Amino acid sequence: MINKIFCNYSQIDCLVRESGNSVKNEFNPDIILAIGGGGLIPARILRSILEVPIYVVTISTYDENDKPIKEPRIVQWMDFSLLKDKKILIVDEVDDTRKTLSFLVDKLVNEENLNSENLGFFVLHNKIKEKVISKKALKIGYYKSGLEVEDKWIIYPWD
Ligand code: G4P
Ligand code: MG
Repeated sequence: MINKIFCNYSQIDCLVRESGNSVKNEFNPDIILAIGGGGLIPARILRSILEVPIYVVTISTYDENDKPIKEPRIVQWMDFSLLKDKKILIVDEVDDTRKTLSFLVDKLVNEENLNSENLGFFVLHNKIKEKVISKKALKIGYYKSGLEVEDKWIIYPWD
Protein backbone atom coordinates (compact mmCIF):
# COMPACT_ATOMS: atom_id res chain seq x y z
CA MET A 1 0.00 0.00 0.00
CA ILE A 2 1.33 3.45 -0.93
CA ASN A 3 0.74 5.71 2.03
CA LYS A 4 2.24 8.87 0.59
CA ILE A 5 1.06 11.25 -2.10
CA PHE A 6 3.82 12.82 -4.19
CA CYS A 7 3.23 15.99 -6.13
CA ASN A 8 5.57 18.01 -8.30
CA TYR A 9 5.73 21.68 -9.29
CA SER A 10 4.08 21.06 -12.63
CA GLN A 11 1.04 19.39 -11.02
CA ILE A 12 0.79 22.21 -8.48
CA ASP A 13 1.00 24.81 -11.21
CA CYS A 14 -1.86 23.12 -13.15
CA LEU A 15 -3.95 22.71 -10.01
CA VAL A 16 -3.61 26.36 -9.00
CA ARG A 17 -4.21 27.71 -12.50
CA GLU A 18 -7.37 25.61 -13.01
CA SER A 19 -8.73 26.48 -9.57
CA GLY A 20 -7.69 30.11 -9.93
CA ASN A 21 -10.20 30.67 -12.71
CA SER A 22 -13.02 29.32 -10.51
CA VAL A 23 -11.82 31.45 -7.58
CA LYS A 24 -11.91 34.52 -9.81
CA ASN A 25 -15.44 33.79 -11.10
CA GLU A 26 -16.91 32.63 -7.81
CA PHE A 27 -15.24 34.85 -5.16
CA ASN A 28 -13.10 37.47 -6.93
CA PRO A 29 -10.97 38.57 -3.94
CA ASP A 30 -9.30 41.99 -3.57
CA ILE A 31 -6.23 40.49 -1.95
CA ILE A 32 -4.49 37.19 -1.29
CA LEU A 33 -3.43 36.40 2.27
CA ALA A 34 -0.81 33.65 2.12
CA ILE A 35 -0.15 31.52 5.18
CA GLY A 36 3.58 30.92 5.44
CA GLY A 37 5.36 28.73 4.81
CA GLY A 38 3.25 26.24 2.79
CA GLY A 39 0.88 28.81 1.29
CA LEU A 40 3.59 31.00 -0.24
CA ILE A 41 4.22 29.21 -3.53
CA PRO A 42 0.53 28.47 -4.27
CA ALA A 43 -0.27 32.13 -3.47
CA ARG A 44 2.36 33.41 -5.89
CA ILE A 45 1.07 31.22 -8.73
CA LEU A 46 -2.49 32.31 -7.96
CA ARG A 47 -1.50 35.98 -8.17
CA SER A 48 -0.79 35.55 -11.88
CA ILE A 49 -4.45 34.64 -12.40
CA LEU A 50 -6.17 36.85 -9.83
CA GLU A 51 -3.89 39.86 -10.37
CA VAL A 52 -4.30 41.15 -6.82
CA PRO A 53 -1.64 41.88 -4.15
CA ILE A 54 -0.30 39.22 -1.78
CA TYR A 55 0.04 39.79 1.96
CA VAL A 56 1.54 37.22 4.31
CA VAL A 57 1.03 35.95 7.84
CA THR A 58 3.05 33.10 9.25
CA ILE A 59 1.41 30.64 11.58
CA SER A 60 3.22 27.59 12.84
CA THR A 61 2.25 24.39 14.58
CA TYR A 62 5.85 23.91 15.71
CA ASP A 63 7.73 25.77 18.46
CA GLU A 64 11.07 27.57 18.14
CA ASN A 65 12.86 24.22 18.53
CA ASP A 66 10.78 22.56 15.78
CA LYS A 67 8.75 20.53 18.29
CA PRO A 68 5.07 20.08 17.38
CA ILE A 69 2.70 22.15 19.56
CA LYS A 70 -1.02 21.68 20.31
CA GLU A 71 -2.23 25.13 19.29
CA PRO A 72 -0.92 27.11 16.31
CA ARG A 73 1.18 30.17 17.12
CA ILE A 74 1.71 33.43 15.28
CA VAL A 75 5.22 33.87 13.90
CA GLN A 76 4.44 36.90 11.75
CA TRP A 77 1.35 39.12 11.67
CA MET A 78 0.27 42.30 9.85
CA ASP A 79 -1.80 45.46 10.25
CA PHE A 80 -5.30 44.32 9.27
CA SER A 81 -6.78 47.81 9.48
CA LEU A 82 -5.35 48.11 5.94
CA LEU A 83 -7.73 45.39 4.79
CA LYS A 84 -11.05 46.51 6.30
CA ASP A 85 -13.94 45.75 3.90
CA LYS A 86 -11.63 43.97 1.44
CA LYS A 87 -12.42 40.48 0.17
CA ILE A 88 -9.54 38.36 1.38
CA LEU A 89 -8.56 34.99 -0.07
CA ILE A 90 -6.55 33.02 2.51
CA VAL A 91 -4.19 30.53 0.82
CA ASP A 92 -2.49 27.46 2.25
CA GLU A 93 -1.07 24.22 0.88
CA VAL A 94 -2.97 21.64 2.91
CA ASP A 95 -6.18 21.48 4.92
CA ASP A 96 -5.31 18.67 7.32
CA THR A 97 -6.88 19.04 10.80
CA ARG A 98 -8.01 22.62 9.83
CA LYS A 99 -6.50 23.96 13.08
CA THR A 100 -4.55 26.67 11.27
CA LEU A 101 -7.50 28.01 9.28
CA SER A 102 -9.76 27.91 12.34
CA PHE A 103 -7.15 29.78 14.42
CA LEU A 104 -6.64 32.42 11.71
CA VAL A 105 -10.35 33.02 11.03
CA ASP A 106 -11.00 33.35 14.76
CA LYS A 107 -8.25 36.00 15.09
CA LEU A 108 -9.38 37.93 12.00
CA VAL A 109 -13.03 38.01 13.02
CA ASN A 110 -12.81 38.35 16.80
CA GLU A 111 -9.62 40.36 17.24
CA GLU A 112 -9.18 42.21 13.94
CA ASN A 113 -12.94 42.79 13.46
CA LEU A 114 -13.06 41.58 9.87
CA ASN A 115 -16.35 40.31 8.42
CA SER A 116 -16.19 36.49 8.07
CA GLU A 117 -18.25 36.69 4.84
CA ASN A 118 -15.37 38.65 3.29
CA LEU A 119 -12.98 35.78 3.99
CA GLY A 120 -12.42 33.02 1.47
CA PHE A 121 -10.03 30.07 1.53
CA PHE A 122 -8.11 28.32 -1.22
CA VAL A 123 -6.04 25.26 -0.44
CA LEU A 124 -4.14 22.96 -2.79
CA HIS A 125 -5.17 19.76 -1.03
CA ASN A 126 -8.02 19.07 1.35
CA LYS A 127 -7.62 15.79 3.20
CA ILE A 128 -10.86 13.89 3.58
CA LYS A 129 -10.93 13.28 7.34
CA GLU A 130 -12.44 14.58 10.57
CA LYS A 131 -11.65 18.26 11.12
CA VAL A 132 -11.59 20.42 14.25
CA ILE A 133 -14.35 22.55 12.70
CA SER A 134 -16.74 22.16 9.75
CA LYS A 135 -16.65 24.52 6.75
CA LYS A 136 -20.13 25.71 7.66
CA ALA A 137 -19.22 26.52 11.26
CA LEU A 138 -16.29 28.65 10.06
CA LYS A 139 -18.88 30.97 8.45
CA ILE A 140 -16.45 32.11 5.76
CA GLY A 141 -17.71 33.39 2.43
CA TYR A 142 -15.92 30.92 0.18
CA TYR A 143 -13.97 27.64 0.32
CA LYS A 144 -12.17 25.97 -2.56
CA SER A 145 -9.74 23.07 -2.66
CA GLY A 146 -7.67 22.19 -5.72
CA LEU A 147 -7.98 18.51 -4.94
CA GLU A 148 -9.76 16.38 -2.33
CA VAL A 149 -7.35 13.65 -1.21
CA GLU A 150 -7.24 10.64 1.08
CA ASP A 151 -5.75 11.09 4.53
CA LYS A 152 -2.17 10.29 3.49
CA TRP A 153 1.06 12.27 3.94
CA ILE A 154 1.64 14.56 0.97
CA ILE A 155 5.22 15.17 -0.17
CA TYR A 156 5.50 18.64 -1.66
CA PRO A 157 8.35 19.51 -4.04
CA TRP A 158 9.61 22.14 -1.57
CA ASP A 159 9.77 19.62 1.33
P1 G4P B 1 -3.71 22.46 9.29
O1 G4P B 1 -4.15 23.15 10.54
O2 G4P B 1 -3.14 23.43 8.28
O3 G4P B 1 -4.76 21.58 8.73
O4 G4P B 1 -2.42 21.63 9.68
P2 G4P B 1 -2.14 20.73 10.97
O5 G4P B 1 -2.03 21.56 12.18
O6 G4P B 1 -3.12 19.65 10.98
O7 G4P B 1 -0.71 20.15 10.55
C1 G4P B 1 0.51 20.52 11.15
C2 G4P B 1 1.58 20.86 10.13
O8 G4P B 1 1.73 19.77 9.24
C3 G4P B 1 1.25 22.06 9.25
O9 G4P B 1 2.49 22.71 8.98
C4 G4P B 1 0.72 21.43 7.98
O10 G4P B 1 0.91 22.31 6.86
C5 G4P B 1 1.59 20.19 7.90
N1 G4P B 1 0.97 19.10 7.16
C6 G4P B 1 -0.20 18.50 7.41
N2 G4P B 1 -0.40 17.51 6.55
C7 G4P B 1 0.67 17.50 5.70
C8 G4P B 1 1.04 16.69 4.59
O11 G4P B 1 0.34 15.76 4.18
N3 G4P B 1 2.21 16.98 3.99
C9 G4P B 1 3.02 18.01 4.40
N4 G4P B 1 4.15 18.20 3.74
N5 G4P B 1 2.69 18.79 5.46
C10 G4P B 1 1.54 18.53 6.09
P3 G4P B 1 2.73 24.23 9.32
O12 G4P B 1 2.87 24.41 10.79
O13 G4P B 1 1.65 25.04 8.65
O14 G4P B 1 4.11 24.53 8.65
P4 G4P B 1 4.51 24.92 7.14
O15 G4P B 1 5.10 23.70 6.57
O16 G4P B 1 3.30 25.36 6.38
O17 G4P B 1 5.47 26.03 7.32
MG1 MG C 1 1.15 25.07 6.48
